[in-house]
Amino acid sequence: MPSIAELAASIFENTIKVNEYMTRNDIVIPSLDLGSPISWNIPLEATDILAARKAAIEATVELQTLLLGPREHFIQLTRFSSNIPIHAITRFNLANNVPINGEIAVKDLARQSKVDEQSLGRLLRYAINLKLFEYSKPGYICHSVMSRMLAENVDIHDYASASCNEMWPSSAHVVDALNKFPGSQEPNETGFNLANDTQLTLYQYVEQHPVRARQKLINKVGGSNGFVAIALAEAFSNLKCIVQDLPTVVKDMKAPANLSGRIEFLAHDFFEPQPVKNADVYFFRWILHNWPDKYAVRILQSLIPALKVGAKIIVYDEVLPPHGVLPEEMDLALAQLDINMMTLQNAKLRSAEEWKQLFEQADSRFKFGGITIPPGSALGFVEVEWMPTG
Ligand SMILES: C[S@@+](CC[C@H](N)C(=O)[O-])C[C@H]1O[C@@H](n2cnc3c(N)ncnc32)[C@H](O)[C@@H]1O
Repeated sequence: MPSIAELAASIFENTIKVNEYMTRNDIVIPSLDLGSPISWNIPLEATDILAARKAAIEATVELQTLLLGPREHFIQLTRFSSNIPIHAITRFNLANNVPINGEIAVKDLARQSKVDEQSLGRLLRYAINLKLFEYSKPGYICHSVMSRMLAENVDIHDYASASCNEMWPSSAHVVDALNKFPGSQEPNETGFNLANDTQLTLYQYVEQHPVRARQKLINKVGGSNGFVAIALAEAFSNLKCIVQDLPTVVKDMKAPANLSGRIEFLAHDFFEPQPVKNADVYFFRWILHNWPDKYAVRILQSLIPALKVGAKIIVYDEVLPPHGVLPEEMDLALAQLDINMMTLQNAKLRSAEEWKQLFEQADSRFKFGGITIPPGSALGFVEVEWMPTG
């Protein structure tokens, strides 16, 4: 394990490398200033610079952990109250009620947002410590770059809202769910179910609460609007794609005019027999990690009546390597996603071996062709062929 001095040296070296690149190429370095870009705009081709930034971030996290020491680091891990001001900002629409280029008195914001003034003042003080909003003068606030981002970027606002309103209460019930339903493979025996006092699965719930789903869940559950099919059809002119999803998801979807005739949207429940027969490829992108094995197996089995000999099933999804293979930051992100899947649907991320076993469990006529993981990606292509005659 590197020492604090080695980590500091690595941070210095990599940060200088990134800084010089950005300056040389006239790319603005993001800061916490109001007009700052909200993301780093390093082009994908600059792989060494992207790697240097990543290495600096990883070393920074490790250095902070070491400098805090085990006790303080652990105490920091248990601080979840920073969700409260973010929850308040999204619930009371605070970011949108602050003028983009001006200021507002806290008492006016309280009136406009229908929140008690004193409570709002206390929440704002916490938020400002998190770099959300700033005091422009006593009793007045204005935007910081982060609160302005929430006001201007609907996707990020929806993401924050879903995170506080859906994931947070569900997460608080995960251990209770594990206790109540030990080893469950049912997608309706989860933290989400206990938090929402429902027996519906996440997707059934979303179908029944479309407004809540649109406002708060869409960034979590994704939403198959055909973006992959469109990219594929644009890249390969001989390709015809049918995008299948639940009726509420596909009902208003239309292919771009230049691709009409080659992209079609079809309402289909993937637990029902596959209606599109004899396709060359059945492609599942980021679908099966949403389901426990018992249900993922059913999804694969429902393809069988439609499959011709040699049909390919391609799954593009996370392939979980053993701990220690990926950089720490990526391993942490995957562990978090895995537990999020447990929280919402008793679902899980799978290792290469678990992908293989899933197809074996579904049907011995699925011939496993291997897994290809593009460099630097956490997602891999799992390739399987339908070989009924062995
Ligand atoms: C995590 S999203 C992935 C979306 C997209 N494939 C992507 O890669 O971004 C899971 C998708 O599965 C769809 N879905 C959930 N249950 C379904 C079902 N029973 N039949 C068909 N689609 C379903 C959801 O509507 C959602 O679009």
